[in-house]
Amino acid sequence: MGNIVLLDDLTINQIAAGEVIERPANVVKELVENSIDSGASNITIEIKNGGKTYIKVIDNGKGISKEDIPNAIERHATSKIKNIEDLENTYTMGFRGEALASIVAISKLTIISRTIEQDLGLKIVAESGNIINAEEIGCKVGTTMIVENLFFNTPVRYKFLKQDATEFKFIKDFVQKTALANLNISFKLINDGKQVFSSNGNGNIKDIVYLLYGKETSENLIEVDYKEDDVRVTGIIGNTIMARENRKDQIIFLNKRNIRNQILTNSADQAFKGGTGIGKYGFFILNLEMPANNYDVNVHPTKMEVRFKDEGKIYRIFYHAIKSSILSKDFLGNNENEIKKQDYVENEYKFLTNHFNKYENNQNTIKRINPKVESINKSAKQEELINRDEVRKVDYVYKGILFRTYIIIEVGDEIYLIDQHAAHERLLYEKIKANYKNNLTTNSQMMLVPELYDLTHKEIEFVKNNIEMFKNIGFDIEIFGENSVKINGIPDIDYKVDSKNIFLDTLDEMLTNERSSSKDIEERFIATVACKAAVKANMDLTKAEVDNLIQNLLILKNPYTCPHGRPTTIKFSKEEIGKKLQ
Ligand SMILES: Nc1ncnc2c1ncn2[C@@H]1O[C@H](COP(=O)(O)OP(=O)(O)OP(=O)(O)O)[C@@H](O)[C@H]1O
Ligand SMILES: [Mg+2]
Repeated sequence: MGNIVLLDDLTINQIAAGEVIERPANVVKELVENSIDSGASNITIEIKNGGKTYIKVIDNGKGISKEDIPNAIERHATSKIKNIEDLENTYTMGFRGEALASIVAISKLTIISRTIEQDLGLKIVAESGNIINAEEIGCKVGTTMIVENLFFNTPVRYKFLKQDATEFKFIKDFVQKTALANLNISFKLINDGKQVFSSNGNGNIKDIVYLLYGKETSENLIEVDYKEDDVRVTGIIGNTIMARENRKDQIIFLNKRNIRNQILTNSADQAFKGGTGIGKYGFFILNLEMPANNYDVNVHPTKMEVRFKDEGKIYRIFYHAIKSSILSKDFLGNNENEIKKQDYVENEYKFLTNHFNKYENNQNTIKRINPKVESINKSAKQEELINRDEVRKVDYVYKGILFRTYIIIEVGDEIYLIDQHAAHERLLYEKIKANYKNNLTTNSQMMLVPELYDLTHKEIEFVKNNIEMFKNIGFDIEIFGENSVKINGIPDIDYKVDSKNIFLDTLDEMLTNERSSSKDIEERFIATVACKAAVKANMDLTKAEVDNLIQNLLILKNPYTCPHGRPTTIKFSKEEIGKKLQ
């Protein structure tokens, strides 16, 4: 006899549950999403023991009819789509018809529901997939779902659960995010008898942000409402003060569904560049609204991932939505008097869309400051003739470093704040690019002790495919065994850098931002190495290093933007300061 047997339904559902239900928060997600889909305007969530013993979700939605309740817990039973084509037109959170079947396979589930057409509701209790009790019951229109003893029959899963407080935190995070996306629904979250969160459903995102992040935060928000084509981006971004150490407060919704998406994250990074301070992440809570046929959410059962049909378009629109909001308010690096907003956006856009060469020709459209350099009165034509090696002397007085990040110099009647990272990045970019283009063989600084790094499969593939590029830029690199590399030297940039970071960070960046075509990869590689090798904020520079940096910077033809197009420098005149203080 053969060994292959057909699995029974319960086993199938328990296995499938593993995909969507890993912890109590996933149950809450599925139940709350069903409540949202039912058109509820009030949703209450009650939790006990971090959701391990008890989860109750009450809604005032349209309810489930008596006949449908038994079907609802069947696998592949949904009222939301009839065939796969419907997905192109579906805006509900659910559509797979498997959440309740999964939940009931691994817990005790009670459903109480009534529709407006019925006088009495129905209450059923089901366990391990089977209905064990059903009775008519008087109740309000809407649905209550109670999930008890989650994972009681899948002990291995139960064992992996964290402490109650941690499990509850996952639940709270989910509920709060959901409230941020569904501004017209009032949510209440109760934990072990205590109300921990509630939103009033009045449609105002700032009210919820105030609740979640406090008063100071809500004063530093900029509202976003941007429309292009059939895509609309709404929500809020935080100004410079709100920049974060991590990505926790970068929340993206797509038609109100919380998603993770690398393309959007990259786009936001580019838009915030220069606006957050070095090494920090922009704060944003944004919802993208677009026709459902622009993307596919049926990538994974949890629906956290989506695939966009036109990634470039979405990237661009998200970028512009954020960037134009940034430019409308006080942000680090913004100086509206001096910069034509459109120029700025266009310039960055050109970089982003990989028209690097075009961007270079256009560099001079950004005229942020005019230091009193010798060439100041030269005509545009003469200006063009100045090559990079010509030393332009600038009389400046070094005043110090602000926040261990911004170099302050005084030039005549003006004060310049120079972002030490952006400025250094700009310098290194020019140097590395020159070395690269001239094929200099001496562009590597040898390391005292070669270093070996174990790489992932994806990383080693990238290195192998681009080994010449690594070498040309100054990495003395060898493939070592199956998946290791040996680094003997790193690009020579007159500056002591952390060799490990520059190599691994560059690799990481190149792999996370894989969207360029191969012809742009070199330009981006150079820019990335420059960025990773440049001094960071909070690195203390000596006076000599500062002098060196400023002098070298001002020799450049266009010193005032970093390779990504963002400003290295902002300026205030004595007159401007005087006016502000009047
Ligand atoms: N709170 C509710 N209010 C009204 N109907 C509900 C509710 N919860 C579930 N239902 C009904 O039960 C059906 C099954 O729910 P289930 O969550 O299993 O599947 P789904 O939401 O259709 O798809 P998915 O598996 O993607 O969530 C739904 O299609 C809906 O008709
Ligand atoms: Mg569902």
